[in-house]
Amino acid sequence: MAQASFICLLLSFSIIILSNAADINIDCGSSSSHVDADNRTWVGDTGFVTTGLTSTFKPIVTTAESLTTLRYFPTGETNCYSNIPVDKGGKVLVRTRFNYGNYDGENKAPKFDVVYDGKHRDSVVTVTSISGTRSEAIYIPESGNTSVCFFRMFLNENPFVSTIEIRRLDDSMYTDLGPKEGFILQQRTAYGRVQDLVRSPFDPYDRIWAPTPLSTVTLTSAATSINTSGADNRPPEIVLRTAWSREDMAFYDIKLPFSGVTFYIVLYFSEPLTLASDQKRTFYVNYDNKQVGPSVIAPPFGAVTQASLRAVVTTSLPYLTFKAKPDSTLNPLINALELYVISNSAGNGTNSTSSGSGGSPSTGGGGGGSPSTGGGGGSPTTGGGGESPSTGGGGGSSGSGGGGGKSGPLTTTINHHHYGSEQTVIAPNADTVTQIQNAK
Ligand SMILES: *[C@@H]1O[C@H](CO)[C@@H](O)[C@H](O)[C@H]1NC(C)=O
Ligand SMILES: *[C@@H]1O[C@H](CO)[C@@H](O)[C@H](O)[C@H]1NC(C)=O
Ligand SMILES: *[C@@H]1O[C@H](CO)[C@@H](O)[C@H](O)[C@H]1NC(C)=O
Ligand SMILES: *[C@@H]1O[C@H](CO)[C@@H](O)[C@H](O)[C@H]1NC(C)=O
Ligand SMILES: *[C@@H]1O[C@H](CO)[C@@H](O)[C@H](O)[C@H]1NC(C)=O
Repeated sequence: MAQASFICLLLSFSIIILSNAADINIDCGSSSSHVDADNRTWVGDTGFVTTGLTSTFKPIVTTAESLTTLRYFPTGETNCYSNIPVDKGGKVLVRTRFNYGNYDGENKAPKFDVVYDGKHRDSVVTVTSISGTRSEAIYIPESGNTSVCFFRMFLNENPFVSTIEIRRLDDSMYTDLGPKEGFILQQRTAYGRVQDLVRSPFDPYDRIWAPTPLSTVTLTSAATSINTSGADNRPPEIVLRTAWSREDMAFYDIKLPFSGVTFYIVLYFSEPLTLASDQKRTFYVNYDNKQVGPSVIAPPFGAVTQASLRAVVTTSLPYLTFKAKPDSTLNPLINALELYVISNSAGNGTNSTSSGSGGSPSTGGGGGGSPSTGGGGGSPTTGGGGESPSTGGGGGSSGSGGGGGKSGPLTTTINHHHYGSEQTVIAPNADTVTQIQNAK
């Protein structure tokens, strides 16, 4: 029945369109709409905010228009964007970006907090370099509108914001997220990629995956296609095409803001080689001395498996180690990784391979923000994922404490971080952190 299938086609089209209804790009500090070089439609912010002042700066290098306008809040402790339409009960990713651009001529990038949907708090340490910073949260909004608020932390440091992006995720993704919880992004890395940031259209959910800045020993997949449905979180195929592999890998840069925080770490694995009958790649992974995923990880060829762990970090410098099983003939590998702090944590959760988290009730997270250094570190990008070209590293610089013990109606997890390079960096940033170290 040609007609019936045509109607089905129409229906599935409208479903696709509907499921993207919550995608919105707010160009803060602008009152008009525009379409950018990547065909993203930006809307002005006047429908979402009533306080603050707008400003612009003249970038010294090519910078996306949306990042050269900003809204800043010279008065008040809290200022909010609200009435941002979302699908009630649907999982969203909200990304805020901060490009200071010395708009106020003070040459002093402020620190402040951002709070998503009234309860998921992140600390933002902005930078004077054009690379800018971002903050990102995944959560299920309480109503059909969500909000993004900015909290002044220091008297002389005015919060500001350059852009707010809302992306609708599939509800089958990130099932380790509890109903009232928020995942506050710390790190999202594609291993074996040395240049381009990955985002949409390569990632249909427009997550931003940072490449690894060092020239690493990489493996490239021989599979003609990689079926990503084996991993609930649906990592994009492009990040599964490359892997980083070596004997006894250990990463010391998978950092959390302070100990005692409840975190969620998830790793993605895809076997790049067609293994001969006498070849075997099996290993296990530990983070903070706890096992991530099952005791035997065997990456599938042309497919993907994810391994995750929800737990409360116990050591101040947790690290991630990979160990081959005794009968494995090949070294461990990793394709991609995501690390989040869980706000409003409802419990430890489990170390399961995919869904079925559960977890007994407890009060994880929270705690006073003790000082820590910024994680991540920027990396060279050359456009690919739709950002403008850049030539240097950037990102990581140290941040000061997030300031615990805030009172008020919020029950939040506080943290701060730096990750990723946003825009062109003229000179490599001295703060760039070495991302990968070898165990031996
Ligand atoms: C730009 O986006 C619009 C709607 O979002 C779409 O109809 C159009 O085909 C896109 N153009 C290109 C060149 O991708
Ligand atoms: C969102 O906020 C607007 C403005 O306050 C209101 O008119 C609308 O009903 C709200 N939508 C939902 C779904 O709550
Ligand atoms: C992809 O993998 C899933 C299981 O993970 C399977 O059900 C599905 O049939 C696969 N799709 C293709 C096109 O092979
Ligand atoms: C992982 O989960 C299993 C089953 O719940 C449990 O027996 C094991 O102790 C857990 N391992 C870690 C390191 O938490
Ligand atoms: C996490 O779980 C372990 C054992 O499952 C328990 O001993 C610990 O107290 C829990 N931590 C929190 C913060 O709930």
